[in-house]
Amino acid sequence: MQNKWWRESVFYEIYMPSFKDGNGDGIGDFKGIASKLDYLKDLGIKGIWLTPFYPSPKVDNGYDISDYYNIDKDYGTLEEFKEFLNKAHNLGIKVIIDIVLNHTSSEHPWFKESKSSIGSERRDFYIWKNSIPNNWESFFGGEAWEYDENTKEYYYHAFAKEQVDLNWSNPKVYEAMKDVLKYWIDFGIDGFRFDVINFLTVQDDLNVDNPFDESGEQVHKYDKNQDGVLDIIKRLVKDIRDIKEDIFLVGEVGSEDFNELKPYCGENLLDVVFNFNLGSIDEFSIEKIYKEILCMNEEYDEKQIPTIFFNSHDMGRSITRFNPKGNCNGIEKAIAALLLTTKGVPFMYFGEEIGMQDLVCYDIDKMNDIQGITKYKLEIAKGKSEYEALKLSNKSSRDKSRSPMQWNNDINYGFSEAKPWINIEDKKDKTTVEKATKDNKSLLNLYKELIKIRCNTTALLYGDYEDLILENDVLSFRRKYNDIVVDVVINFSNEDYTQKIDKIELLNTSESNTLKPYDFSIYINKL
Ligand code: NOJ
Repeated sequence: MQNKWWRESVFYEIYMPSFKDGNGDGIGDFKGIASKLDYLKDLGIKGIWLTPFYPSPKVDNGYDISDYYNIDKDYGTLEEFKEFLNKAHNLGIKVIIDIVLNHTSSEHPWFKESKSSIGSERRDFYIWKNSIPNNWESFFGGEAWEYDENTKEYYYHAFAKEQVDLNWSNPKVYEAMKDVLKYWIDFGIDGFRFDVINFLTVQDDLNVDNPFDESGEQVHKYDKNQDGVLDIIKRLVKDIRDIKEDIFLVGEVGSEDFNELKPYCGENLLDVVFNFNLGSIDEFSIEKIYKEILCMNEEYDEKQIPTIFFNSHDMGRSITRFNPKGNCNGIEKAIAALLLTTKGVPFMYFGEEIGMQDLVCYDIDKMNDIQGITKYKLEIAKGKSEYEALKLSNKSSRDKSRSPMQWNNDINYGFSEAKPWINIEDKKDKTTVEKATKDNKSLLNLYKELIKIRCNTTALLYGDYEDLILENDVLSFRRKYNDIVVDVVINFSNEDYTQKIDKIELLNTSESNTLKPYDFSIYINKL
């Protein structure tokens, strides 16, 4: 598993509408992203993950694709995508693209054809039943079956009703999607991030109900990780690799449970899957983080590489989760050190490097995220007040981490008011790239240094752990590769920690052998 480009890269997720607007319409686009490639290069990024950019009604911000072969007009044109891709490649940056194989938009021509009549040629592209066969709930809340007036049957949707699940037991669906993948590989992309890939198949017998847990939440027992899904993935992986060998294949298997994750990655499977064990930690706990790092190390075999991330477009930003008071206690620096020194493939989320915080939506009419909106409606239906429903929907809504990148202190951070779903307050005090660039001690500059160290130190890229220890909230570990060892100590306690030093310093935030809370040190040595 060595010498793969993706093992030596730090990835950076770009949430398409929010990164950089290049044409002044208030929405991020390829022109904008291309103009910031030098910034990403300077940060040390070697791989970009783009969220969906295909034409879409954007009921779920692009995860509802209506044309797999094109670019949404908000984001530009195929030519502009190509220009961006070429520029990225010239700078040594690879690009992986999000692809949604589980469902299409209800506006996709396949679905329009499928619902045109029961006898339609594409009827079997989707899952239809003449009555609701089970109690399955959509992952956004509410029933997973939707009635179609025209053909008087119900179709299945694991997410919004505008995201219709494809029927992967139909071989024609496989062939249609294989063509899509080939098209983008030929276009020149370097990898795929497969959305909800463990959802492709559902239980054969649709007449079985999902159970509920003690708290009354539905357990999604029969609508994901079902028979046949691994065979499909293995076939896809092989077909893709026959076209391009060194393509990076990442699966989203939305889980923290290694028993659920393990079957999907490794030899002849996906290169990695997203493990949500760090991203799903709501309140900071070094014990929990430590346990998860141990777990990643013990559960996977030597061909299975974990992914390391604390942030993405589907969760609140870690800086807010871990330090809700926002009192600059320095925890974000310690987290950066953890992200970039532990074993696995690190994925950053745009804005993480400058410490962007979650924002709050004060007006339901301005909420954009389907998950938050659905939550609001369900709570109102249950009798909650508008205030309570808004509060709860803010918890579910993923808008909080999707606000525009804070490039500078312009009133709209370079964006117009086209997407004003979030009230951005205290604009003057917010962290910005402009400010962070000028400040030697900024988080941004620390990220740059850490990324450089990671990418230039084989032991941090490939080394195994030795002595992975948590003692009095001080996390320390050694990464060893051949005769090179790197020792990392991160002080997560609220007291000073003094260490013995007899090695060569790579980075030490305290400038002495005493680490204050959230200081860390990285030392290298030859055995
Ligand atoms: C996972 C994506 O990350 C999320 O944003 C989306 O809502 C669901 N898949 C449905 O496609």
